[in-house]
Amino acid sequence: MTTTIFYYTGTGNSLWTARRLASALGETQCVSLKRCTEEKIVCGAERIGLVFPVHIWGVPPPVVEFVGRLNVDPAQYLFALAVNAGQPAATLIQLQSILREKQLCLSSGFSIDLPSNYIPWGGAPASGKQQKKFDAVLAKLNRIAAVVRGRDERPPEKGPFWQNWMLSALYRISLPHVAGMDKPFFADEKCSACGICEKICPARNIEMAEEKPVWKHRCEQCFACIQWCPEEAIQYGKGTKNKKRYRHPEISLKDMLASVSPER
Ligand SMILES: Cc1cc2nc3c(=O)[nH]c(=O)nc-3n(C[C@H](O)[C@H](O)[C@H](O)COP(=O)(O)O)c2cc1C
Ligand code: SF4
Ligand code: SF4
Repeated sequence: MTTTIFYYTGTGNSLWTARRLASALGETQCVSLKRCTEEKIVCGAERIGLVFPVHIWGVPPPVVEFVGRLNVDPAQYLFALAVNAGQPAATLIQLQSILREKQLCLSSGFSIDLPSNYIPWGGAPASGKQQKKFDAVLAKLNRIAAVVRGRDERPPEKGPFWQNWMLSALYRISLPHVAGMDKPFFADEKCSACGICEKICPARNIEMAEEKPVWKHRCEQCFACIQWCPEEAIQYGKGTKNKKRYRHPEISLKDMLASVSPER
């Protein structure tokens, strides 16, 4: 009766969700998908979960790439949680079709609404507002645990029609440009050259040069660098300077670095 949850995260919401679901389920391990480097991902667990943020109204490219390497038995129970900030759009429908192409079935899929880490939309909400979302998600995770434990079938949750139709099209248009979407990032005068941004980047997209980070256009748009910089020195264009940074309060920098690679 085992479960493995593979997670991807930029600011800890998906890791927190994976951990909380794991403790509700029991006998569950959480594995960062960025640490799965094998050509084929083999997993003997009875139930396999994917927990990841919604990016640009769809499945983030590293998750698409990971699913492409999944080599599991169609009899294994597959479920997914799309962690978002209120606009899940058709992300889980997209995941369902990617799995179908591999003759795999998404048995259940859930939308998890947590605070936004997309800082151009706005800074971190006040802690009371964050807590309301955490409490609602914890209640939902108990319901999800019951579904997953019973290996029940549930149609993937999705946003309203306008989101699915219009925003899924925007996802398809944006996808080829994601790697180069790091162009607006820069480090301002507050940078202390600590190197955390370089270490936390899951794409190894940041290199320190003359004590300043340089973005190398292999970006995954996870926003870990801007949100975890201890000096709030990283900006994304002109609009982020005075916006409050967001990270899940129960996830530490150590958790994040361990999610990226064991030696960082
Ligand atoms: C580049 C980018 C794009 C995003 N796009 C969406 C989106 O389309 N819909 C949405 O609801 N949230 C979107 N978000 C917000 C995240 O999905 C949300 O904050 C999530 O909880 C972050 O999870 P994480 O902390 O595990 O990375 C986006 C965030 C980023 C960084
Ligand atoms: S994390 Fe922030 S302070 Fe540290 S090197 Fe990067 S930009 Fe500079
Ligand atoms: S450069 Fe920043 S946003 Fe891009 S993948 Fe690295 S940490 Fe994420």
